[in-house]
Amino acid sequence: MAQIVCSLLFISLIMLAFSDTVDSSSSARAYLEAQCRTSIHRDLCVETLLPYVTKTILGPQQLAQISLAVCLSKARQTKEYIYTVAKHFNETRDFGDNQAIQECLRQIDNGVNQITLSVKEFQQMGRDGEENFVLHEGNVQSWVSAALTDVDMCIDGLLGDGIGGREEDMIKAKFLNVKQLASNSLSLFSRFSSRHRASHIVKNP
Ligand SMILES: *[C@@H]1O[C@H](CO)[C@@H](O)[C@H](O)[C@H]1NC(C)=O
Repeated sequence: MAQIVCSLLFISLIMLAFSDTVDSSSSARAYLEAQCRTSIHRDLCVETLLPYVTKTILGPQQLAQISLAVCLSKARQTKEYIYTVAKHFNETRDFGDNQAIQECLRQIDNGVNQITLSVKEFQQMGRDGEENFVLHEGNVQSWVSAALTDVDMCIDGLLGDGIGGREEDMIKAKFLNVKQLASNSLSLFSRFSSRHRASHIVKNP
């Protein structure tokens, strides 16, 4: 009898624990859906941030920082991939077939640099508080926007001067992912900074 009571207790404890995680993960999702409301790629926005908010609820500034960091990491991976393909094409194809991919390599390299700059600028913004807020805000926005333009140029180049095959599809998919992450980061960032400005007296430089 004691054993039955014991196992019943055990089962209900498990169920309790289980329903708790389900609850907290669905409330994390609901929270992120609200935070990602202004993002064009809202589902991606939620999925990107979900692993980070299941234990702690993060504010708009932290969410924008995480989104930008994920974007940077994907952009770096994409750059490595493009480099490998470009190198392989250099060894196996004529120079003429190579233009689009070399151009993409240059653009993703620029993109990685620009996103790196905005990540640093965002960190500096956190350290400076109200000091130079508007200046930092403008820099973060213009660097992420520049990265978006670079990514677009590669995709357009590939569409125009198709390199064909599996690589072209892979490159397009990777660039599209980076582009969507950058776009989400930009909208999360704008959400954070406009709210911040609205609730603080911001010192102009
Ligand atoms: C491919 O060849 C071009 C022209 O020689 C060179 O500029 C470029 O750096 C090479 N790219 C890679 C990834 O090796």
